[in-house]
Amino acid sequence: MEKFVINGGKTLSGKVKISGAKNSALKLIAASILADSKTTLRNVPQIEDVSIMVEVLKNLGARVNVDRENKVIEINPESISSYEAPYELVRKMRASILVAGPLLSKFGKVKIAIPGGCNIGSRQIDLHLKGFKDLGAEYSVEHGYVNCYINSSRAGTRLCGTIINLDFPSRGASENIMMAATLAEGKTIINNAAREPEIVDLACFLNSMGANIHGAGTRRITINGVKNLKGTDYEIMPDSIEAGTFIIAAALCGDKVEIEDARWKNLEVFYFKLKEIGVDISVIDENNVRIESSPGTYKPTNINTLPYPGFPTDLQPIIAVLLSVVPGTSVVTENVFENRFMYVDELNRMGAIIKIDGHRAVIRGVEKLSGAPVRSFDLRAGAAMVLAGLAAEGETEVSDIYHIKRGYENFEEKLSLLGADIRRVE
Ligand code: UD1
Repeated sequence: MEKFVINGGKTLSGKVKISGAKNSALKLIAASILADSKTTLRNVPQIEDVSIMVEVLKNLGARVNVDRENKVIEINPESISSYEAPYELVRKMRASILVAGPLLSKFGKVKIAIPGGCNIGSRQIDLHLKGFKDLGAEYSVEHGYVNCYINSSRAGTRLCGTIINLDFPSRGASENIMMAATLAEGKTIINNAAREPEIVDLACFLNSMGANIHGAGTRRITINGVKNLKGTDYEIMPDSIEAGTFIIAAALCGDKVEIEDARWKNLEVFYFKLKEIGVDISVIDENNVRIESSPGTYKPTNINTLPYPGFPTDLQPIIAVLLSVVPGTSVVTENVFENRFMYVDELNRMGAIIKIDGHRAVIRGVEKLSGAPVRSFDLRAGAAMVLAGLAAEGETEVSDIYHIKRGYENFEEKLSLLGADIRRVE
């Protein structure tokens, strides 16, 4: 088991470059199944979740070539001969279920393991399945798997375009349904769709393959089905959550830190919250921002996580670390996942004073955190523990860092280059 050992209190300065977006890369790899020829993806982050999605595709029979050095992945889906996402892979990474829409749409059948709960909540897939059913598919649940197939009496050999009203703007459901609808017959409209920038990236990617999608990034996405899609060459957008993580690291213990490829427009609510707290964050241009830290002047605030364009739930544990050392009382309300405060007890072990009241965390800012051995419970909570360690006095050991490796490319290298004292040990 590997862990990070951090000697806190070092000042961060310099430049850091943000990698390709995990939550876009995973979907684009899945979507490449829809093409009839080879797709090349660029700026692919070299992280564990991407390796798992590559495994999922290889397991289906696709030929995948990974060039780690150049961050390029080539996917040839012509050899796909299996239509199953097995439990061993889905339990490692829930996003594996994103192959369901493409497989169902292209081959008329798919068998996916039901992901079950995870460390941040129960995370059902009912909205994905309801969407597939509205498109003319049938499904049955047996032995922990969903078997989904096109009902030929209703839709022939292709899915059938329709109007789908999502009860909640689920990102995964919007993506799975959008991918499924690209090869459906006729027009599909997804109402109350998720609006994240990664949804727009996926729609642009699919359009570059020959799909006909409008309105991605708004509540209503229209997909005019096409008969086939061709492979494409596409560069993945930068990762907003990684950018947000480095922005908070700089606000906590930076001198002057420049973040390249931060695309602050994708993080507008987060950005304005930081301004409200008093973080000196300035826009260099649309891709780059600069943070000059002045911790003594920060003020408490309230945060409410919401689907995009609201405050991102993925940055909730990370901003909580900053608020834990801001004098006064801040309240963080989690509205997207029911169990996203698992990190709080760990942060309290480092001297934070946070009380949980239902889906609210009430944070009384302390002067300093102090280093301690802590665990990472999930990807973002793990990153939050690292940031707490950077800001704390003394040594912090963060264990279970495989969670962090799932989503942050070269996390400790990037922090070290900024001046952090962090090393990975067995
Ligand atoms: C994605 C992101 C994740 C982020 C989350 C919310 C990826 C790989 N992951 O996850 O980092 O935290 O968006 O921004 O992109 N729900 C249902 N039924 C469904 C689907 C979802 O009840 O069929 C609920 C979930 O339990 C959760 C909420 O909807 O409470 C949000 O889930 P969703 O937007 O689907 O998140 P993911 O796509 O899984």
